[in-house]
Amino acid sequence: MKRTHMCGELRMENIGETVCLNGWIAKRRNLGGLIFCDVRDKSGITQAVFNDTVPEELFTKADSLRSEYVVGIKGTVAERESKNPDLPTGDIEILAEDLIIYSEAETPPIYIRDDDNADDNLRLKYRYLDLRKKKMQDNLAFRARLTGIAREYFAEQGFTDVETPMLIKSTPEGARDYLVPSRVNPGRFYALPQSPQTFKQLLMVGGTDRYFQIVKCFRDEDLRADRQPEFTQIDLEMSFVDVDDVIEIQEGFMKRVFRELKGIELTTPFPRLTWQEAMDRFGSDKPDTRFGFELQDITELVKDCGFKVFTDAIAAGGSVRGICITGGAAEYTRKKIDKLTEAIKSYDARGMVWIKVVDDGISSSVNKFFGPEELQQIADSMGAAAGDLILIVSDQNKVVWDSLGFLRRHIAGQMGLLDDEQYNFLWVVDFPLFEYDEKEDRWSAMHHPFTSPRGEDARLLKTDPHACRANAYDIVLNGVELGGGSIRIHDRQMQEDMFRALQMSREEIDEKFGFLVEAFRYGTPPHGGLAYGLDRLVMLLTGEKSIREVIAFPKNQAAQCMVSEAPGIVDEVQLEELGLAITIC
Ligand code: AMO
Repeated sequence: MKRTHMCGELRMENIGETVCLNGWIAKRRNLGGLIFCDVRDKSGITQAVFNDTVPEELFTKADSLRSEYVVGIKGTVAERESKNPDLPTGDIEILAEDLIIYSEAETPPIYIRDDDNADDNLRLKYRYLDLRKKKMQDNLAFRARLTGIAREYFAEQGFTDVETPMLIKSTPEGARDYLVPSRVNPGRFYALPQSPQTFKQLLMVGGTDRYFQIVKCFRDEDLRADRQPEFTQIDLEMSFVDVDDVIEIQEGFMKRVFRELKGIELTTPFPRLTWQEAMDRFGSDKPDTRFGFELQDITELVKDCGFKVFTDAIAAGGSVRGICITGGAAEYTRKKIDKLTEAIKSYDARGMVWIKVVDDGISSSVNKFFGPEELQQIADSMGAAAGDLILIVSDQNKVVWDSLGFLRRHIAGQMGLLDDEQYNFLWVVDFPLFEYDEKEDRWSAMHHPFTSPRGEDARLLKTDPHACRANAYDIVLNGVELGGGSIRIHDRQMQEDMFRALQMSREEIDEKFGFLVEAFRYGTPPHGGLAYGLDRLVMLLTGEKSIREVIAFPKNQAAQCMVSEAPGIVDEVQLEELGLAITIC
């Protein structure tokens, strides 16, 4: 039975037409002499009716239909007596004349409904059923439209779509690699790419000039709502460009995406914040600027106060900063504040001071250490008015930034200030070139070791490398890092200085990046690029809260594919062929 229409397509103007629909039975009701069934495909649902004028055999067949049976239904489109305003096809129904049951179905373990709230692991195990939901199909279609626009836009801008290898040597992004043993090279392993970083730079050496790819990347890191072990990047690289050139192309891309997919005209250029400003004002290198509660530094004001928690932090090189939650005094009871204090422990904060400004004065967790005038002075300096709540953290800058950065966004969420329909883009620029890795007790590259220092900081690379700022930039949307990139080092001597600042030995350099360093000996164009997290972009544009909702077959919290049950146990024979033996420690 050849399909004539999709199930979401028919309207009043189709009345009288003979049509054939194919799809799944979403619902079936037998009202005695009438059988109603809803047929569903990715476009929507149409109601079909088998009434007592149809042959008995057909009626009996229709009566045997159950949820998720796959059918073909032929009939005439008619106006419905009782219309359903909630369905786009709700004005019509099909008076069925023929029915084919393509396949029967067992009772599905999850409901195929957008508002179904089945457990995540169950949804992932039966993802093929979950994907029948309209919302999931819409998300996949949205994603496909976005990748279509990306391919079109970057091709128009002169980018060549090039595939890069999946079985490679380690890349420099700094997460843990997924390793693949090589059978023909016993004892050796490929790494799955954390990104095509080194290859896209080789493409620039190879004269490709502008490279683009929509590409899978693999990182063995702890999962979060916006992190998957395998995710997709829109990756690009350009020759003979500076920061402004790369940014301009990206803003053009975002404008196109928002115009075509959301009907929104974005204003460009997007604001640019230096990393320092982002940390000082928002406590985050991916600031959400949809609401206020900016951080305020009160170190100067309290440096001579008698409260040891503050003065000790300052003496140890830290700072005292706070946020003022407008209208938060009444909302945040002691109990709620205790929960916030508990939450920031995961950022290594040892505590938090609160001050409430109320109509008849001021109250605080540090009443014992500060007089009312002193508290008032702090409140005034932070612009607090009656009804406001001040939260203060004192510690090393990183702890203070991380804690307050978390609090401002967390509280904004609790107060309902995160408007999904508002899109605040910005660029964070001038990142530090290096960051100190506490765990490994050494300096590492904040982006990767091929990121160039800012022009005026280049001379510091030899003398005071850790003070260098990088020619690196991140694009941020509503507090989510959508993408990041940099202008790379193309000068051999500078690359050597960079490796030295990272205290990398010659052997380590040769082992990890020898091929790239060698390539740079044969004429390297100045180049730079960027990669977007495609999943994150689609998540934000579809208003989803997790990238799992926009990936057809994502991994669960334990990095497992619930559908195929990967990772799995392998055959002894396979291990033998690879020359591997398993010892689980
Ligand atoms: P970076 O490591 O910043 O840069 O990655 C680019 C973007 O990829 C997304 N992303 C992720 N999305 C989902 N799950 C993950 N585990 C994950 N990790 C990263 C983020 C991020 O902004 N080669 C450089 C780019 C360059 O310098 O050109 C790179 O990969 O949205």
